[in-house]
Amino acid sequence: MADGTVSKAFSFRWINGQCFQFRFNNGISLLTDPWYSNDDSGMFNHIKFPDITVDDLGNVDYVFLNHTHPDHINNLQEVMDKYHPTVITHSGNVLELMKAMNAVTTDMYPVDYEGLYYFDGFVMETHHATHHSMPKRLPQTLQAALKEYPDDKRATLDWMGGTFNTNFVLTTDNGMRVAFIGGNDDGMIQRLQGPNKPNIIIRNKMASSAVKDNVAENFAEWFAQVDTQMLIPMHYETWLSNDPEFAENMIKDMNRIMEEKGKAGRVAPMIRGKWYTLNLSIVPED
Ligand SMILES: [Fe+2]
Repeated sequence: MADGTVSKAFSFRWINGQCFQFRFNNGISLLTDPWYSNDDSGMFNHIKFPDITVDDLGNVDYVFLNHTHPDHINNLQEVMDKYHPTVITHSGNVLELMKAMNAVTTDMYPVDYEGLYYFDGFVMETHHATHHSMPKRLPQTLQAALKEYPDDKRATLDWMGGTFNTNFVLTTDNGMRVAFIGGNDDGMIQRLQGPNKPNIIIRNKMASSAVKDNVAENFAEWFAQVDTQMLIPMHYETWLSNDPEFAENMIKDMNRIMEEKGKAGRVAPMIRGKWYTLNLSIVPED
């Protein structure tokens, strides 16, 4: 780079789904919703995964679970076995997780909504979250889950996943603020205003992957309302696998709409598996 000053906030990568890995400047690593490979059930056969194994994660000190559907916990057990991270999730999930997983009880870190938690390298604010609509009653959901996971205790976690969802905003030791939002807005636009505003938002798209109408328009409208510097979309791996052009156009269209609205916020696509750094920089305008 020419003239200017750059201060690194952290390294991070999007792996797949809502699985992000952050590495803070003190070396501590946080992994969200571990899902980087297929499983034997065949339910993820439509996804092209990045080439990542549990060994590639290096170190994982914390895991955060937004909710407990299979595409958020598929690789949790092997991550726990290898790295023994502190597993941060809503207290409503903890008992079933311990029944389903081989977990060290003191590694589980139950959190509740609208809380503030202090970890090594970051502070985490937790917020109530809701899942995108799943028009299923419990018995059908459990039945479907049992079909996917016969005799698997994760079936219970599967149908619970539509209920206990948690978003977070973390602040690094150096003061960079990152929001992580899955599912619906559920009040996040209001929560993230004024002194609560993050620098960057990592957000699931506005509806399920099956919904492909007005995706960029609705997503950009949300982004314009929350009005932050940067947005990283996540959990659109189905489109990246089956319709990459659609995914690419979503980003382009969102940035065009933000420009038309006179907003400085921009959408930053990330290539799954590739490491990036988030910096704060001062550069000359010429
Ligand atoms: Fe889900």
